[in-house]
Amino acid sequence: MLEAGRKSEAGITLAKPLAGGRPSTCGDRPRDGMPSLGSAGGCPAPWWLRISTVNCLDQHVEKSPNRVALIWERDEPGTAVHVTYRELQDLTCRLANTLKKYGIQKGDRVAIYMSVSPLSVAAMLACARIGAVHTVVFAGFSAESLAGRIMDSGCKAVITYNQGVRGGRTIELKATVDEAVKNCPSIKHVFVAQRTDNKVHMGDRDIPLEEEMTKADSICIPESMDSEDVLFMLYTSGSTGKPKGIVHTQAGYLLYAALTHKYVFDYQQGDVFGCVADIGWITGHSYVVYGPLCNGATSVLFESTPVYPDPGRYWEVVQRLKINQFYGAPTAIRLLLNYGEEWVKKYDRSSLKVLGSVGEPINKEAWQWFYEVVGEGRCTLVDTWWQTETGGICIAPRPSEEKAEIVPAMAMRPFFGIVPVLMDENGEVIEGNDVSGALCIAQPWPGMARTIHGDHQRFIDAYFKAYPGYYFTGDGAYRSHKGYYQITGRMDDVINISGHRLGTAEIEDAMADHPEVPETAVVGYPHKIKGEGAFAFIVLREETAHADHIKEELKTIVASKIAKYAVPDHILVVKRLPKTRSGKIMRRLLRKVVTEQSSNMGDVTTLDDPSVVKEILDAYQKYKEKNSS
Ligand code: WTA
Repeated sequence: MLEAGRKSEAGITLAKPLAGGRPSTCGDRPRDGMPSLGSAGGCPAPWWLRISTVNCLDQHVEKSPNRVALIWERDEPGTAVHVTYRELQDLTCRLANTLKKYGIQKGDRVAIYMSVSPLSVAAMLACARIGAVHTVVFAGFSAESLAGRIMDSGCKAVITYNQGVRGGRTIELKATVDEAVKNCPSIKHVFVAQRTDNKVHMGDRDIPLEEEMTKADSICIPESMDSEDVLFMLYTSGSTGKPKGIVHTQAGYLLYAALTHKYVFDYQQGDVFGCVADIGWITGHSYVVYGPLCNGATSVLFESTPVYPDPGRYWEVVQRLKINQFYGAPTAIRLLLNYGEEWVKKYDRSSLKVLGSVGEPINKEAWQWFYEVVGEGRCTLVDTWWQTETGGICIAPRPSEEKAEIVPAMAMRPFFGIVPVLMDENGEVIEGNDVSGALCIAQPWPGMARTIHGDHQRFIDAYFKAYPGYYFTGDGAYRSHKGYYQITGRMDDVINISGHRLGTAEIEDAMADHPEVPETAVVGYPHKIKGEGAFAFIVLREETAHADHIKEELKTIVASKIAKYAVPDHILVVKRLPKTRSGKIMRRLLRKVVTEQSSNMGDVTTLDDPSVVKEILDAYQKYKEKNSS
């Protein structure tokens, strides 16, 4: 445990603990003109109850300061660090005061480019505490992706680590930030924390974070916020254009994250909640940070990978930390099931009560393995469907409902307040059961995104235009004869690689930088472990004997412009792409080719020259033969 006055493993020397946390609920008066939130048992709710960090920290510090808020399962096996609510409040306040000292104010945007750790959680909460808007950028994204997000959001500062550590390897986070901020004039300061002992270059605008935090005051009065003020934004991919900054607000988001955390996972006080997502994604925001902390849970921060140092890592952690709810992605389950059951059975999993799956459709085999092998057939397994835009889980079974039936590999039931509808091709609501259609939501809910940063029209166009009066999710779904929902996958040009969402247009835009490659089209194809992979069709400017070299260059470009996970697994050179008479690429046909459904190409009459289909099929066949031999 971290102790006051002693150097913590997070590298911070903590001052004496806060005397009593926040003032007691009944004694606190509303701030100038602030309406109180109503009363519970004759005691008026104080103005600060609406503030995210007060809900996530102060209310728990007041009641049980020594309860463990975070268990940081570091990359190095067996070196977990426990952080109590009081310690997390201390870290948050010091970090908040440091940000303030360097001029960060309410409404300013701050990028967080860090691996998962108590300090990165404190960075998110510190922004929330002073009313700044955090935008966490997954620490696997390239400098160019980071720069794009910083520029779009107009961030004033970045908070990062000198290096990250994952799977036994170090990752150069600060160097990537240096590269990114070269072209970002809005950045005034880069706060650099130390994850490793290695020294990195520190320039004029770089500030050693821990050094400043030790000097900072450990009390920071939270900024008063309106319930509709922005809490954070998070960039995510759409079917067209650059990633969009999805905006979530204070009260609705937090309420929704906390409620779904409680009811979907049947969270009970004292449980250790283990969501292995990174804070760079919405799952990390809602179910590592905001939901669990608002509920006063002990939340596990998992810094490593499922196979480091061996494929038993998850279950060894479950045994050692006595995790009660384990929430992960199907891609990891598919990977682990290939290594065999011994790696699971070696460890005691009797603490587990609920298992959760998120981010992509879970196939039946993975569901069964997760349920039978990991959960010993006695844990409830919840397949949870939701999106960055929805803020929290929208469709999932609820183990908290007594005797509720759970059907394998089905998200099943809408959460309280969610009204799913299925739409047909003519934009009409499909009634009845045993039907499929475009998944929409018919009424607003507290956790829904409010806008896209800087482009409200894009928000309307992307989500509310296809089916006027409804929120369109971009996913297709099936409603079973019993009325349960099963998600069938994206209906647009968004793909899902290892649970990471990506627009195929982003990969195409990146590859367009290659001077020898005038045209590209990327589609998703089924991948055994990753769920989906990217398959790229490219046209070369002229025939060349160096096509393989060009393909390698394209892969490097995609890794450096987006991220490694976005690199296409397959790149196939074709003479031309299938286009309509008006010049639009028919990706639908390419999807049929890579999913090997060429016998059912559908309507090809709008093609400029239908003979292109055979040409591409032949090229694909040859490519397949070459690669299987
Ligand atoms: C997909 C992740 C099937 C879906 C929380 C959605 C799922 C996209 C599931 C959002 C699930 C998420 N079953 N598909 N249980 N959960 N998806 O924004 O296509 O990273 O639209 O949010 O992931 O991805 P995002």
